[in-house]
Amino acid sequence: MRILVFGAGAIGSLFGAKLSLYNDVTLLSRKEHAESIKKNGLILRGKTEGVYHVDAIHTLDHYTGKPDMIIITVKSYDTREAIQEVVNKFGREIRVMSLQNGLDNLEKIEEFIRRDRIFLGLTTEGCIFLKPGEVLHAGTGKTIVGSPEKNEFVHDVMHEFRKAGFDTEISQDIIGDMWKKAIINACINPLTAIFEIKNGELKREILFDIVKDICMESVDVARASGLDIEFEEMIEEVRNVIESTSENLSSMLQSIRRKKKTEIDSINGYICKVGKKYGKDVKMNSLLTDLVKIREVFT
Ligand SMILES: NC(=O)c1ccc[n+]([C@@H]2O[C@H](COP(=O)([O-])OP(=O)(O)OC[C@H]3O[C@@H](n4cnc5c(N)ncnc54)[C@H](OP(=O)(O)O)[C@@H]3O)[C@@H](O)[C@H]2O)c1
Repeated sequence: MRILVFGAGAIGSLFGAKLSLYNDVTLLSRKEHAESIKKNGLILRGKTEGVYHVDAIHTLDHYTGKPDMIIITVKSYDTREAIQEVVNKFGREIRVMSLQNGLDNLEKIEEFIRRDRIFLGLTTEGCIFLKPGEVLHAGTGKTIVGSPEKNEFVHDVMHEFRKAGFDTEISQDIIGDMWKKAIINACINPLTAIFEIKNGELKREILFDIVKDICMESVDVARASGLDIEFEEMIEEVRNVIESTSENLSSMLQSIRRKKKTEIDSINGYICKVGKKYGKDVKMNSLLTDLVKIREVFT
């Protein structure tokens, strides 16, 4: 398969490198990263060790032909701009898979591309961008792929991901799964970013009480928008993720520490947007969104 990874930073570089073993892969990244990869190969450390000689470019002007699929791995605040570039180059018939976190990527992509050409991927693989040319594969995880509209191509994607070594399944309800992952992130990420604490600190009663309130409010919003998500099941999942990632720094905290923008608008901010549409109380998510934005300013 011809695959273009748009926005190869941490996660895009990992997927692109491993997919390149059996596919014709090009990474589109920032200039320094692309130049280092062209010169020395892409170096993966940690759970995957090796040097991957994968094609890398820093502008779509350098891409010839048309890929079978584009995997979008920019942060969600860059999705609209990325899709605009994709459509300008390849037209609206191109297949696109968002392998991102956040709830608003699908609607941003849909502004330009028909729903039956869009795929969604969710992964708990964990990566950190170390420096241009080098990425740390910090933790292995599970990946699910799906399509908002029935589409057999998702099977091809699953096979390629599996061949590349990713533990991958097809989701029968990718939108529901996207919401579940976002609710977990909504419960964990802002608090860890605001207080600069490891995920495991959220087990303390005083913090876990807040986690429960965020979870309850977020589930209420998800249900109002038609999703079949139960609070008891969700809070158990949140508890399990806090336990299994107790030593980790959330991605939002990492962004704050690197003085980078966070994906708060696509997670808690988006839950607020949907909640308001259905007349739901979104006090918790709204406050967290504001507090994280304040942290972005004062880092
Ligand atoms: N890292 C993980 O372990 C992980 C796991 C699961 C899901 N995710 C999700 O995957 C998405 C990406 O996360 P990440 O950690 O891989 O982020 P990242 O390291 O910041 O990677 C995104 C890269 O895309 C680049 N980029 C943005 N616009 C571009 C453009 N027009 N042309 C070329 N490059 C462009 C960014 O450059 P600049 O920084 O210079 O803008 C950055 O290097 C997020 O939604 C995240 O939540 C990440």
